[in-house]
Amino acid sequence: MTTETERIVTANSPDRINFTEMYVTHDGFRRDLERLAAAASAGRADSPQVREGWETFKRQLHVHHTVEDEWLWPKLRQRVAGRPDDLALLDAMEAEHSVIDPHLEAVDAAMARRDPDLTAKVEELRAGLDGHLSHEETDALPLIQQVMTPKDWAGFRGAMARKQKLGGAAEWVPWITDGMSPADAGKWLRRMPPPLRLLNKVSWEGRYRKRNLWSW
Ligand SMILES: [Fe+2]
Repeated sequence: MTTETERIVTANSPDRINFTEMYVTHDGFRRDLERLAAAASAGRADSPQVREGWETFKRQLHVHHTVEDEWLWPKLRQRVAGRPDDLALLDAMEAEHSVIDPHLEAVDAAMARRDPDLTAKVEELRAGLDGHLSHEETDALPLIQQVMTPKDWAGFRGAMARKQKLGGAAEWVPWITDGMSPADAGKWLRRMPPPLRLLNKVSWEGRYRKRNLWSW
């Protein structure tokens, strides 16, 4: 497994896709589920900040998977037409997304009932999501690198930005840097367009920190 630092590649090269935003977003999902698991096993999943952390996680996951399902996988499907093994991988990506939803619902239901089973439900979600993210990183990203271009990838990032809108970006940017070392956060923020970086500095970051997500 690469380290987080290696997952943040500052410079974009003209002939290779830079997957930094995919990696740091996946790491954000893993980080949040680790925090949820810790709160659940301590019996503190009722904390309002844990609940808000969970809602934030679900919102960011929904945006991420929706844009992959609506933009990325269909585009990739066109590029690998006639290649059965690659098409099977895309079928797997879509199938893995669809099994995450029942896990999210099971966690929601266990939280609502204050069910002692919550810890087990969180672990099932973690296993399902981590398995999917790792599969995507190991097999789908290399395929994307092979058959798509940096310009295609800019299209995907544009679709993500349109889905998030400015309000979603206001949450996504500080959510990404949450828990990163200051060096990695600075390195990653330099990839953001200057206006977003400025907005984050003067407003988004402070607002996000005040929410104190996942504290209990
Ligand atoms: Fe992804």
